[in-house]
Amino acid sequence: MSPFRSRPWTGGRSFGWSASWLPLAVAVLALNGCGGKQDGLDTKGMVYGGSSPTVSPAGPVASTHYSGMGISVAPEIAPAANAATHDIRLDVTHEVIQVADSVRYQAWTFGGVVPGPVIHIRQGDRVNFTLTNRSDQAIPLTPPMPHSMDFHAAMVNPLDKYQSVGPGAQLRYEWVANYPGVFMYHCATPPVLQHIASGMFGMVIVDPKGGYPTHADREYALVESELYLSKSRTRAEMIDMKAALQKTPTYVVFNGKPQRHVAEPLKAKPGERVRLYVLDVGPNGTSSFHVIGTILDRVWLDGDPANELRGMQTVLIPASGAAICEFVIPEAGIYTFVDHEFADCEMGAMGHISALP
Ligand code: CU
Ligand code: CU
Repeated sequence: MSPFRSRPWTGGRSFGWSASWLPLAVAVLALNGCGGKQDGLDTKGMVYGGSSPTVSPAGPVASTHYSGMGISVAPEIAPAANAATHDIRLDVTHEVIQVADSVRYQAWTFGGVVPGPVIHIRQGDRVNFTLTNRSDQAIPLTPPMPHSMDFHAAMVNPLDKYQSVGPGAQLRYEWVANYPGVFMYHCATPPVLQHIASGMFGMVIVDPKGGYPTHADREYALVESELYLSKSRTRAEMIDMKAALQKTPTYVVFNGKPQRHVAEPLKAKPGERVRLYVLDVGPNGTSSFHVIGTILDRVWLDGDPANELRGMQTVLIPASGAAICEFVIPEAGIYTFVDHEFADCEMGAMGHISALP
């Protein structure tokens, strides 16, 4: 047991395993096997669980806050590395981030950026993940504190893999991407609302075996989230937890800042097919994602081509859910993407795709 280890997140309640459940659980496990095909479905070859994580002192500070192949900062998406195993390192840092004129807040980050880096891998790939808690490196107002990592793309025991580690500690664990799609990752240290609202979230893209069934000319990552701020003009405040609990955001944003992609429009050309990987982080709200001036030719809910919808005007994305939205740019123009819950749009959840000559 490491001195850095703290209590893992269990949702604040027990899982309710009792003697009366055990015979049923054993029967279900016996029927399903472990990654086998006894259930007649396509779970053959899936890898469940992983070896016990390790926790150790962090070692020297690296020159970058994240490392690994296939990693980028949204809206950019790096190609997935042609490798079966990926070494991914994300450092937790505490940063002051400016989101609007004179509006700054104290972010808690993965990799020093909000949203955290986009991790791009392929179905069946293994991730050797290293989380280094550097919250003790820069301390404006927020004290060093425990943090953790919950990958929605993983199928592992959350009690050990998603444990919190203290400042100056390093957690390593591995997992295999069984399902294709667009998945959230986030800090799972209580209160989870505060850790997510403070910036500890990001996107994992898992390409399907054999790739997606269409060819896209442009690909962008969009991460929608809410910011709960005091809007202090004089100093960088922490996230306003009262506002977060009341679900009254100051801003709703794509890729970290209100209307960021009005100032930094995404580029496309008339006739091109655009693929947007859209993740709604929440932590509290849904997204009614819509692109003004076109129709979503294909929508893959949670980014899995098995979940295909066609000809959609708007796709509803739950908090912690995602969708891949593909559409054609019909002619030269500026195509505004919005959260069609228009209060959210007014609070900043909009951006531009510029297809001007
Ligand atoms: Cu955290
Ligand atoms: Cu989660």
